[in-house]
Amino acid sequence: MENFESVARDAVLEAGEELRRAWRQSKIVHYKGAVNLVTETDKALEALIVARLRRAFPDHRIVAEEGSTGTDSFGAGGYVWYLDPLDGTTNFAHDFPHFAISLGLARNDDLVLGIVHDPIREETFFARRGGGATRNGESIHVSAVDDLDRALLGTGFPYDRREHGEFYLGFVADFMRRAQGIRRTGSAALDLCYVACGRLDGMWEWKLSPWDIAAGACIVREAGGLVSDFVGHPLDLFGTQTVASNGHIHSALVEVLRRRVAV
Ligand code: IPD
Ligand code: CA
Ligand code: CA
Repeated sequence: MENFESVARDAVLEAGEELRRAWRQSKIVHYKGAVNLVTETDKALEALIVARLRRAFPDHRIVAEEGSTGTDSFGAGGYVWYLDPLDGTTNFAHDFPHFAISLGLARNDDLVLGIVHDPIREETFFARRGGGATRNGESIHVSAVDDLDRALLGTGFPYDRREHGEFYLGFVADFMRRAQGIRRTGSAALDLCYVACGRLDGMWEWKLSPWDIAAGACIVREAGGLVSDFVGHPLDLFGTQTVASNGHIHSALVEVLRRRVAV
């Protein structure tokens, strides 16, 4: 596991330097869908990190957002890396300083390692299963807020939001009435890390992908929080519903989400 950790860290930090440099320059943007962007930087960072992982672990499977997938089965020893080379591409493309690189490792179905790096604030969130969670090497924990009324929540909207806008806004309307505040930051990976370190008390989002959540979910759990689907079942990396919290408000979040899912 030590080797996994150091390879992942070195690759992500090196890509982080590249991302910091690219942030100062003009961006080449392409459209994957009406509101789904990809830049040359997303692709370059993915190539860099995937090359590092492949060199160190030629038998591992890698699932990365911009297409670097391996076989359909698990890699050797059941290891699969989930990589989002740039989570928050829309922010990046608009010079909005909030985005990150997210790299998680699962063994079979268990998340064993997560690293999320924000190159603008120079914050690196890290967790190893059973080893706790850290930010720049300092231990982090979820918040103690135990009342939804006092909770600051994060959320985001999937890329089919133009077709299903009303449906997604229904959840926002519910939490707007119940929570202290809602933030739409534009980076799901950082939302999860912010739950882990207590800046947010919870977050929910539809249709995230495994590369958005693998690292962050591991970090939330190791910081003492909970991650599940909207009815409280264990998180499915390939599912459509993600809710994370400090644990204290989890059942209150699920109660609100469950009601709308059941509609
Ligand atoms: C997106 C961000 C955003 C979330 C979207 C994600 P991307 O990832 O995490 O916050 O609302 O659902 O797809 O496209 O910037 O990697
Ligand atoms: Ca993403
Ligand atoms: Ca991305």
